[in-house]
Amino acid sequence: MPQLLLGQTLSFTGNPWLLPPNEAVQHIRQGAVLLEAGNIIEVGEAETLKAAHPEATVTDHGQSLLMAGFVDSHAHFSQTAIIASWGKRLIDWLNTYTFPEESRFSDAAYAAQVANTYLDLNLSNGITTACAYCTIHPESVDAYFEAAQARGLRMLGGKVMMDRNAPENLRDTAQSGYDDSKALLQKWHGKARLSYTITPRFAPTSTPAQLEATGALWAEHPDCLMQTHLSEQHEELAWVQDLFPEHQDYLAVYEHFGLLGPGAIMGHSIYLSDREWDAIRDAGASIAHCPTSNAFIGSGLFHATRAHAAGIRTGLATDVGGGSSFSMLRTMASAYEIGQLRGDALHPAQLLYMATVGSAEALHIGGKVGNLEVGKEADIIVINLASTPVIAQRTARADTLWEAIFPTIMLGDDRAIEAVYIAGKRY
Ligand code: GUN
Ligand code: ZN
Repeated sequence: MPQLLLGQTLSFTGNPWLLPPNEAVQHIRQGAVLLEAGNIIEVGEAETLKAAHPEATVTDHGQSLLMAGFVDSHAHFSQTAIIASWGKRLIDWLNTYTFPEESRFSDAAYAAQVANTYLDLNLSNGITTACAYCTIHPESVDAYFEAAQARGLRMLGGKVMMDRNAPENLRDTAQSGYDDSKALLQKWHGKARLSYTITPRFAPTSTPAQLEATGALWAEHPDCLMQTHLSEQHEELAWVQDLFPEHQDYLAVYEHFGLLGPGAIMGHSIYLSDREWDAIRDAGASIAHCPTSNAFIGSGLFHATRAHAAGIRTGLATDVGGGSSFSMLRTMASAYEIGQLRGDALHPAQLLYMATVGSAEALHIGGKVGNLEVGKEADIIVINLASTPVIAQRTARADTLWEAIFPTIMLGDDRAIEAVYIAGKRY
């Protein structure tokens, strides 16, 4: 049975990082989206689509904005319970809060409880797809994908591999990390809407032997993505130099072990040399921009404009729980603030693009989700552009679409997410 959702529609027809924003966007004030069998069949004027499809069931979202669900290109579902932990920089934060929490995920029941909480928080914030790090425990991966499958979500993720510089109960070995990852990959990759992502945590927590085994695993399964952290904080860079003195820079470590390629998603990537920027571009790898995390853990200012100018696929990411919010709106606001600190006022279209199309392309699923477009899967969110008194009084005097949207980006949270559709079904 076809269904019609009515509201203002927002679709990207081009890239607002390359084109003037109004030439990259299609906005229909009295718009409609026709859905059938979990897919987007048509986007157009409400009157036209209503007349052409009298058989469709109609849900009228009034003046609210219909757009693609948000795509979070980097998060740690296992850090849900330690979000907003006070007072540490990266390495201390990992040792003080993160590792003790992640060690709890050997308990399958606890892993399931957190996976469910994580996905419900994502959905209440309009995040319909994410690429998440689990923990070293296979149980955590099963819990994550089972909870995603139960909700019908398109989700990506994988088992963290880590065989040094972590507590003993959080270490695998080069062999067991390879074996467990391979078994999980064979169990989950391509099942329902799920994709397995090969996940070495970052260079400091893997021995050369583990990085080598990880490179071999990826070479055997090139259809999987590979995610890791790169150049997030100065102390981390110094540590990598100390651990891998034979490599010229941080990225060179990953390159050496076969961990740079088109399916690589490099989280953070703040302190890149010119050589590293060029190598990421030449490899066709992606970057996940984690602005709330970079502010919260005190990491630094990612150069979003440079990444886009280089043509690097760049997604937006909450990086929960180093990131301080589940809200993609708050994450866009943080990206805006970091842009301002660098002297770049990012346009609301650029922020929305990074949170949808950009992230989807960074994850190589741009053909499936991330845009309100014919042929895409019907993961759709409905945004109330007047969700709180302060936003409502600001939107009331908006003359343009962007003036109507920007206050919600800067001031909005889960109260702005009026409805979420997963493959056409209201959640
Ligand atoms: N680098 C290695 N592990 C992590 C993590 O869990 N969070 C962040 N933000 N950075 C990391
Ligand atoms: Zn991270």
